[in-house]
Amino acid sequence: MARVIGGLTTSHIPAIGNAIAKKMFQDPYWKPFFDGYPPVWKWLEEVKPDIAVVIYNDHGLNFFLDKQPTFAIGAAPEYRNEDEGWGIPTIAPFKGDPEFSWHLINHLVADEFDLVTCQEMAVDHGFTVPMQLFWPNYEDLGIRTVPLVINTVQHPLPSPRRCYKLGLSLGKAIESYPEDAKVVVLGTGGLSHQLDGKRAGFINKQFDMLCMEKIVDEPGYFLDMTIPELVREAGAQGAEFILWLTMRGALGGNVKVLHSNYHIPISNTASGLLCLENAA
Ligand code: DHB
Ligand code: FE
Repeated sequence: MARVIGGLTTSHIPAIGNAIAKKMFQDPYWKPFFDGYPPVWKWLEEVKPDIAVVIYNDHGLNFFLDKQPTFAIGAAPEYRNEDEGWGIPTIAPFKGDPEFSWHLINHLVADEFDLVTCQEMAVDHGFTVPMQLFWPNYEDLGIRTVPLVINTVQHPLPSPRRCYKLGLSLGKAIESYPEDAKVVVLGTGGLSHQLDGKRAGFINKQFDMLCMEKIVDEPGYFLDMTIPELVREAGAQGAEFILWLTMRGALGGNVKVLHSNYHIPISNTASGLLCLENAA
């Protein structure tokens, strides 16, 4: 049977993709950020996951403002990066697993989560940056991926509770897959940031600390928050925290923090890294 072995969170900002392409790992600006990742690589080398389910938001690549699904999922044999900007060299495509994706889709739709199913899907920085951060050698490893897209771009956004419930269902879907596979679930984006408007540059360290702490043992703390309340605390784009809550739902009841790192700012964003091992 498939097993959810753990969850990872990371910021997904496009400037990271540029810094990776230019190997700016020792640059004083980037070092405190990149130094967070080697302990996670060590764990990933030990546990050797077969599949990564990457929860992120599409930033206008597959879905623009005219058509914006609340939830969408990939069921393609591979996913190519077609991100905008930075002039980053083309990176290798990411391997899909259509059979596993369709298993998840069947389970989730039967459980009343009506996802848009994508047999072709391009991926942007929301997906590629976390994958490159956690698996710099993803191409050699051949790790299979499932992109799970949640709308954090155009209101109304799904509530924290709705996303957490989607995560619960996702976890059950993964664990009912009959083939042996070790699965990690990535919650990307966040933490607090706002890219536009009067509060552009907004960062709320106190709320970020609360997010990093409570998501471990008390995710219920956030579930009664409305999206406007989350935006007030985390900033307009900090609402990406719903992606973390979805990841947390997919893990078991008890998780152990193996590693964490918090650094502000990277670009306009508070970056939060968590490596959670599933105790269930
Ligand atoms: C930035 C952050 C994001 O979450 C994003 O999608 C794009 C840019 C930033 O801080 O630059
Ligand atoms: Fe983003």
